[in-house]
Amino acid sequence: MNDVRKIRLVVLISGSGSNLQALIDASERGALPANIVGVVSNRADAFGLTRAHKHTIPTLFFPKQGTRRDYDAALAEHIATFRPDFVVLAGWLRLLSMAFLEHFPNRVVNLHPALPGELPGLHAIERALDEARRGERTHTGVMVHLVPDEGVDSGPVLAQERVEILADDTLETLRGRVRGLEHLLLVTTLRRLATGDLDPDDLST
Ligand code: GRF
Repeated sequence: MNDVRKIRLVVLISGSGSNLQALIDASERGALPANIVGVVSNRADAFGLTRAHKHTIPTLFFPKQGTRRDYDAALAEHIATFRPDFVVLAGWLRLLSMAFLEHFPNRVVNLHPALPGELPGLHAIERALDEARRGERTHTGVMVHLVPDEGVDSGPVLAQERVEILADDTLETLRGRVRGLEHLLLVTTLRRLATGDLDPDDLST
């Protein structure tokens, strides 16, 4: 992996940051040719900030302020100083408007615990389990996609994987399998972007 240039990632989080941890671990063991150059949180108590500090990754706490447009434009300005190749939304629980997205065309990557076109928004795993218990679905999944516009959990799909919902699944067991798959899929997708195996500019047209 020595001849592959390392991509610069800025990771946006709002909470636990287990997906951030997967990216940190993969980068440190050489499985992902990436430098995580910054972690941004809109919540001061996000545990992901502690994870970043532990690995001496620069962090930015950027709390809600002003209008959405002003917040997003200011956020983009701060993130641009990290010179990221990709901005990764890994549990960032806030919609980003074009005032942010226009600064990083085809370079914002989101992770969502559901398949494309299904269960957009919050609590996707809980809703999938509820639907399964009502006999309305047998599986859910995980996807990684580009964020070209203000659509919620939509945009050109970079990767997706199905997760079966078992008859005896609890929220904990299903969430555990979904999270485990998210960690893998996020790392493999970013590796494909880093190596040029996936070209985001091809997908978005
Ligand atoms: C993940 O399920 C992600 O897909 C969703 O929020 C969750 C974040 O988990 N958008 P973590 O903070 O990475 O543990």
